This record gives sequence, C-alpha cells and structure tokens, in this order.
Amino acid sequence: VSLKNFNTFGIDAYARYFVEIAHEDDLVELFADLQWQQTERLVIGGGSNLLLVNDFKGLVIRMNIRGIEHRISHDDVYVEAGGGEVWNDLVNFCVAREYAGIENLSLIPGSVGASPIQNIGAYGVELKDVFVSCKAFEIAAGTFKTFTKADCQFGYRESVFKNELKGQYIITSVKFHLSLIPNINTQYGAIGQELANRGITEPAIKDVSQVVSHIRVSKLPDPSTIGNAGSFFKNPLISVDEFNTVHEKFPDVVNYPGGEGLVKLAAGWLIEQCGWKGKVVGNTGTWKNQALVLVNHGGATGQEVYNFSSQIIDSVYTKFGVMLQREVNIVS
Ligand code: EPU
Repeated sequence: VSLKNFNTFGIDAYARYFVEIAHEDDLVELFADLQWQQTERLVIGGGSNLLLVNDFKGLVIRMNIRGIEHRISHDDVYVEAGGGEVWNDLVNFCVAREYAGIENLSLIPGSVGASPIQNIGAYGVELKDVFVSCKAFEIAAGTFKTFTKADCQFGYRESVFKNELKGQYIITSVKFHLSLIPNINTQYGAIGQELANRGITEPAIKDVSQVVSHIRVSKLPDPSTIGNAGSFFKNPLISVDEFNTVHEKFPDVVNYPGGEGLVKLAAGWLIEQCGWKGKVVGNTGTWKNQALVLVNHGGATGQEVYNFSSQIIDSVYTKFGVMLQREVNIVS
C-alpha cells in the first residue's frame, strides 16, 4: 500500500500491511491475533509529524475513530473527542460554540489522538493546559487504560508516549476541559500585532482563531500543495552558561525563557543565519517564510529529506555549537 496520501510530507513510501481502525473494538480484534502483536507497527493519525525514510515492512495502523461529545457544567465545558478526529475540526467545533481554550491551537495539522503524544503547542498555549485525560489501548494486555494529565508527563513537545511507553499504547480518545469564560491569550507578539492591524481591541475567541489561522497560513506551507511536517526540529533548550557563550558571539540570537536555568533558542533563526532559509536542494529544502520547516518540492524521498536535515544539524552545530534535535517522528 502506498502511504503517499497518509503522510503530509507526501513521501511515496510503501507499507507491507495496512489497516484502518474506526472503532475501539477493531483494536481488540486486531491484536487478539498474536501475529499482529509481533509485527512491527506504525500508528498514524493525520501523518503530519512523520518522515518515512524507507518503505515500512510492518503493519501501518491508521486511526480513524470519530465522534465529539460535549457537556456543560456552569462555566466549565468538557469535550471528549475520538482520536481520529481532525484536530482543526475539533478547534472549529469549539470556537463555533464559544468553548474557549484551544483557539490558539487553530490550524495545527494532525489528529486529536496524536495531540497528547507530543503535547502540541503554538502561540503561547499547549495541549496540557486544557488536557484532562486520554483513553488508550494497551497492546500487550488487549485492554483500555485511562491516563490522567500527571500520567502523561507532559513537557515541551514531550510526553510519556514518546518515552517510557513508546509503542505500547494507542490513544483512542482525548478529554479536554474548556470554559465558557474566555481567557484570551495574546502574549505571543504576532497575535497582538495582527489584532491591532484589524482594529480589534476586545478580541473574542473567534478573532484569536482567525488571527492565528491567518499567521499560520502566511508563514507555513500548505501540505496539500507542498509536502511538509510543520516544524522539523525542536527549538533547542540550552543552559544559561551555553546561552551566554552563544550570546557573546551572536548578540541578536532570538531566545525565550526555557524554564529553570534554561534558555530556549529559535531554531528557525539559527537555521536562517546559516543561510538555509528558502534554499532548494534537489527535491527538498527549507520553506521560504520559515526556515524551521523542511519541504518536499515534489518527488523527494524520505532519505533525501533526512540527509538534508543532517546537513542542517551539522551546519548549525558548526556555527553556534548548538545541536538541533528533530521534532518530526523519523520512521526507518
Ligand atoms: N525566525 C527566523 N527565521 C526563520 C523562522 C523564524 O529568524 O526562518 C525567528 C522569528 O523571527 C521569530 C522566532 O524565530 O523571532 C520564532 O519564530 P516563530 O514565531 O515562527 O515560531 P517557531 O519558534 O519557529 C514555534 C513552534 C511552532 C508554533 C510556533 C508558534 C516549535 C518547534 N515550533 O515555532 O509549532 O506554531 O512556535 O507558536 O516549537 C510545530 O511544532 O510543528 C509547530 C509548527
């Protein structure tokens, strides 16, 4: 089966086996067969954070469990969505009903089920800010388990599902705590600026959603025309000491507080300073408006994109002494 339409990078890699899961019971049934428990597997949702370096010799499980339920209690709103729902459809569902909390996460590609895995975040909000719990299938046990927020051990683009429990669970639904009382978050510079441009002084959540969508569309390539997987690298977290060394040589280095004793650097800036922004290399390259995004200009292989990303890591390391880490899930 070609996976070309199941990864937003548009890499034409093949899977030996492919199954689509539309109900929780499908998982129980699938893994009741020992053969599938022992086959190497790759679980995909929207396929938007994935680089397929080679063909996949195992089983690809595409999650497609749908459904959104919502319950209001005073000013609190509890929303539970199937893992196969498209993330932005959930955002639109909530914004339309004035359920506040995820409007800053508008237009993030991918599925609801994938959202806790890397604690998606943008424009000053992270999934963990609204997350209550998720339900996941334990492959080895054949049963379902609920993970609370604490269980998930969320960090910057991190969770237990990428670390200790990697590959052991499949998320089937996620529960969120939203509110009827908006807590408008425009701390992220570009949002405030764009609201001001539009003459909006008291933004509603639909305004925030529209502005975030506008900023994303203007900076990020649309995967339906140019293959990509959003930010390819994480913004590196370095110690204050390391930061001081970089800052001495490069006073303009874009940085944010990174938590205790740490500084977060803008990887896009580092990459641009190395001269990579908008560069086309074979069928791949970086996006002209955002150097942190690697793109497939058509016909790129996963290996080609991967090799290019290694070149970027090397050159950023040579210039700044900072090691970039890939944020995209590399499948090889
Ligand atoms: N910058 C450059 N050159 C570039 C790109 C960026 O100099 O080519 C500078 C910008 O001028 C700005 C700074 O870097 O000063 C930050 O850029 P931006 O606001 O675009 O955000 P980012 O740090 O590159 C992160 C997330 C995005 C998220 C945005 C907005 C990561 C790895 N990326 O990007 O998330 O949408 O902030 O909140 O944390 C993703 O994770 O896939 C993703 C798209």
